Amino acid sequence: MGNADSDIVFQSYGRCCNNDRFFIDFYDRFMSSSEVIRSLFKDTDMPAQRHLLRNGILQLVLHARGMPDTKLRALGCSHSRKGHNIRPEWYGLWLDALLATLRQYDPQFDEATELAWRRAIGPGIELIRGAY
Ligand code: HEM
Repeated sequence: MGNADSDIVFQSYGRCCNNDRFFIDFYDRFMSSSEVIRSLFKDTDMPAQRHLLRNGILQLVLHARGMPDTKLRALGCSHSRKGHNIRPEWYGLWLDALLATLRQYDPQFDEATELAWRRAIGPGIELIRGAY
């Protein structure tokens, strides 16, 4: 069973993740945060990437609910300097874009929901970021 944060987050994500517009708007927002970030996705198949991210965020949520970190370790590896070379300072922009998009799509989003998201997925993001 999850703790209170992960229950809030699980339900919040459930209200958003079946809408493909959520992922379209997330990437529009994330790519608008810097030209460097936009350039990282210039050759990316974005419909496929949106599908992969849907699952990636689910992995962060499931990790908060006590699932093993095998999938997040694999993401840490793929995003490290040997892989996509995602610099640690870019994860703040990623989280900002995610929270802004959640606020836009989750009709029940409030300050408590935002705090629950930050506390629940923070450790998983740190795991991926820390593999750099
Ligand atoms: C690929 C998730 C953060 C840039 C992927 C994939 C997933 C994913 C599931 C596809 C599988 C793979 O290549 O391993 C996540 C999650 C993140 C995160 C959950 C948050 C912790 C970031 C950040 C950036 C980024 C901060 C850039 C600043 C990319 C790029 C790819 C990728 C460039 C490859 C795209 C391609 O194949 O063309 N990410 N990501 N990711 N991610 Fe992330």
